[in-house]
Amino acid sequence: MSDFLLERPRRLRRSAALRSMLSENHVSPNDLIAPLFVIDGKQQKVEIKSMPGQFRFSQDLLIEECKQLFSLGIKSVALFPAIEAKFKTPQALEAINPEGLYQQSIRSIKESLPDMLVMTDVALDPYNSDGHDGLVDSNTGEILNDETLELLCQMAVVQAQAGADIIGPSDMMDGRIGAIRRILDTHSFHDRLILSYAAKYDSNFYGPYREAVGTGTRLKSNNPKELTDKKTYQLSTSNSEEALREAAQDITEGADILMVKPALPYLDIIQRYSKEYPAVPVFGFQVTGEYALFKHYPDYEQGQKMLVESLLSMKRAGAKAMLTYGAIEVAELLNNGEGYSQ
Ligand code: PBG
Repeated sequence: MSDFLLERPRRLRRSAALRSMLSENHVSPNDLIAPLFVIDGKQQKVEIKSMPGQFRFSQDLLIEECKQLFSLGIKSVALFPAIEAKFKTPQALEAINPEGLYQQSIRSIKESLPDMLVMTDVALDPYNSDGHDGLVDSNTGEILNDETLELLCQMAVVQAQAGADIIGPSDMMDGRIGAIRRILDTHSFHDRLILSYAAKYDSNFYGPYREAVGTGTRLKSNNPKELTDKKTYQLSTSNSEEALREAAQDITEGADILMVKPALPYLDIIQRYSKEYPAVPVFGFQVTGEYALFKHYPDYEQGQKMLVESLLSMKRAGAKAMLTYGAIEVAELLNNGEGYSQ
């Protein structure tokens, strides 16, 4: 018969005990970072229509959400502000208001939960009436690099003063890591990390985010479904060598962590970063559009498991941690012994 089969890899998969002992990669609540949207007001919990189960929280409820996350073992959040239209201007100066919604929210999370890591977003789009991540030259329409950098540096400082642990410049301007590292050090914030969105792609997966923070509203086409054109700064979806160059530069400039965003369609980049720079942690950002895909899957429970499976694929590719809007549900699944964390 088949006596000749000396090698039978299936022996290793025979029992649950073997499978869990031999599992090469795991997702656990320690690996998860929860992105959260904050809005002004009190007792506000406003659903984001394109992301079933996701809300924008006023600060008081944001703290409740953070407490729940922490109790589930999720010790890191990434904050995104949805700023009222009246604060959005072409100069985006609300971004550097020490008493602005964003800075207040950072402060109140750190006051209530000092051990919760707070990761920030350093980009102008929530504050910019043009919907762009950088300042726009009103004559030429050009997205200005160096003028934007000055504002980003001030933003990083007010965020650090508010208590931010991990500063995340996410706009793909040139030279931002070095400039921010220098200004943070000048202000004695040597201990704050910089997470580089080294590879942030010009992706169609950001649609629900732009609804959530209300950017991209001034579009030439008047079509709210069409995304603001960020092609002159975000990476082209066809390129991977260019992503390597971005990472090399950001590491030289002092980046502590590299981010790949979106994550699932760019697993190749996560893998290349982790192989090329094994000593630099790589994070994957499962973005709004990825989350929405799983949430709209006809079978809800299956969709949840598909979401977790895709987080596991990021671990296999080499990610140390993942941002996911599904953090709470995932942690609940894992804590119920669904077999992804053994
Ligand atoms: C821009 C920014 C984006 C996201 C967060 N900050 C992308 C964009 O609008 O170009 C997307 C996050 C997500 O979709 O989960 N600074």
